[in-house]
Amino acid sequence: MPYYSDETIEQVRQSTDIVQLISGFVNLKRKGSNYFGLCPFHNEKTSSFSVSENKQMYYCFGCHATGNVYTFLMKHENMSFMEAVQYLAEKAGIKLPQADESEEAKRIRGRRERLYLVNTEAAKYFYKALRSPQGELGLKYFKGRELSEETMQKFGLGYSLQYSDDMTKYLQKKGFTIEELTAAGVSSYDERYGARDKFYNRVMFPIMNGSGKVIGFGGRVMGEGEPKYLNTSETEIFEKRKNLFGLNLARSSRARNFILCEGYMDVISLHQAGFDQAMASLGTAFTSDQAMILKRFGREVLLAYDSDGAGVNAALRALSILRACGMSGRVINMQPYKDPDEFIKNLGAEEYEERLKKAENGFMFEVRILRKDYDFSDPASKTAFYNEVAKKLCVFEEEMERENYIEAVSEEYGIPKEALKKQVISLVLKGGVKLPETGAENAAGRHTAQPRSEDNDKYAQRVLLTWLSEEPQKYKGISEFISADDFTDPIYHKVAVRMLHDMEEGQPNPAAIINMFEDADEQQQAGQVFHTKLDAIVTDEEKEKAFRDIVLKVKQERFDHDNKAAEGGLSLEEKLAQKRLMEDLRRRIRP
Ligand code: GTP
Ligand code: MN
Repeated sequence: MPYYSDETIEQVRQSTDIVQLISGFVNLKRKGSNYFGLCPFHNEKTSSFSVSENKQMYYCFGCHATGNVYTFLMKHENMSFMEAVQYLAEKAGIKLPQADESEEAKRIRGRRERLYLVNTEAAKYFYKALRSPQGELGLKYFKGRELSEETMQKFGLGYSLQYSDDMTKYLQKKGFTIEELTAAGVSSYDERYGARDKFYNRVMFPIMNGSGKVIGFGGRVMGEGEPKYLNTSETEIFEKRKNLFGLNLARSSRARNFILCEGYMDVISLHQAGFDQAMASLGTAFTSDQAMILKRFGREVLLAYDSDGAGVNAALRALSILRACGMSGRVINMQPYKDPDEFIKNLGAEEYEERLKKAENGFMFEVRILRKDYDFSDPASKTAFYNEVAKKLCVFEEEMERENYIEAVSEEYGIPKEALKKQVISLVLKGGVKLPETGAENAAGRHTAQPRSEDNDKYAQRVLLTWLSEEPQKYKGISEFISADDFTDPIYHKVAVRMLHDMEEGQPNPAAIINMFEDADEQQQAGQVFHTKLDAIVTDEEKEKAFRDIVLKVKQERFDHDNKAAEGGLSLEEKLAQKRLMEDLRRRIRP
């Protein structure tokens, strides 16, 4: 596949007028400074699709499709990024250089391949170590957990020896540099001790991406010890939010559902028991990125989270993320056992199959958990519960679906159906209840019609970028505190790197920023940055306060993110430093 340099791609884009291009496909009419037409990306009767000559971007107010000329061709004509570049170059009469794979593209591609290779070699090393005489403890551990030889092979399980740098030396001999080993997350470097193995004396679970390439590891202590699991930290190829343990296997399962678990061991014992549709998030909460990956398969998602309090809370969060991404989940009841591993050991696969069939509808699960907070012998508490339920029911936008849930809930909890329905309808008519409850404390959150498929933290990052793109002068006041690294979402991070740089020099250039992404979905996400409607978020008076809130939120979430990413958490000093910085920030950007 040919690669073109950033300059070439931008040159081609600039020589194409987006209004002209789209006019070839959509009937556009001028309205003020923009052009409008029927959106080609969703079914509609009124024109909510706009094309901006200034921004050289399109945006649909109905379905939020957005992007530049390339995105349009990719989505509308099903072209690849390279095809779109070639198509427009030809129209504009620009001669493209033969396959000028840019140095950067070459470097990145080579780099990622190297990091996959490090991980693959490390996995082989661990695999062999498990079967070496020194690996006896590890093998005993896995056997103690009733894993068969076949299962161990299927998951490529291994063992990290008790030495501190044996594997690092071994991989260095294979030709990898220390920089590559640390960048891949298998070694760590410190001035006093030099390069050392990240994992030792643990049983090892290689983590693969969807296509089966090893991208990182989880290492478990055998028996008691802290941390129980040590995972590879985030690397260029190991993005916890975007991968799932076991997906490479589960994707080819013949089952019509996925079983989403909390732990690696749960996944492994489910596969061993014949449930090859099981997988788990990577030691962190389930994310919307993961939900979007699963969505592509069009299968139902069954949650197999621990039955304890933490597991229930995690399940509630996962359900809300699934719903935000337009999916519904069901919850598997594993009582009286804690997790799938324990359940299957005690009651076996057949009984588990029964539980799968009986998995509870996600919404009904949420209501059942909610019910526990109320006391029906107290009429006030009972009324409060009914009201909460009515509010929850408002998420169903389709009448038929809403009716069905109203019926199910009223039957289950003995609520008079007509009364419940009336309450729901009056809430729906009043509007406003569809807004999420989260983040409601600050001015920025209160009026936010938050898009449904986004985590809260990601949303704050997006709003801040939008804000800066519309009012670049605001950057001066915060440039001291905010850097591209505060944008933890990979796409927003990339946008931020470029945008903050552009702002140091002058104005950001939205359509050029979109070029940096070759994937149409990524272009779409990056494009959202320039189309968040700020006036829907805050009124003018509240603007200054809201801006400050958003900056603080982005920063705080960055810290939370760092905290989570650091194995075993940050040190006390680091936490204190963060706290001081937040206080400082709060003081300094007071409106
Ligand atoms: P077993 O306890 O061996 O059955 O493993 P499990 O996979 O069921 O673990 P558990 O239910 O305790 O935790 C679920 C998942 O959370 C694990 O698979 C890990 O991904 C992650 N996890 C658990 N403990 C830790 C920890 O100490 N540190 C980190 N980073 N992740 C952990
Ligand atoms: Mn567990």
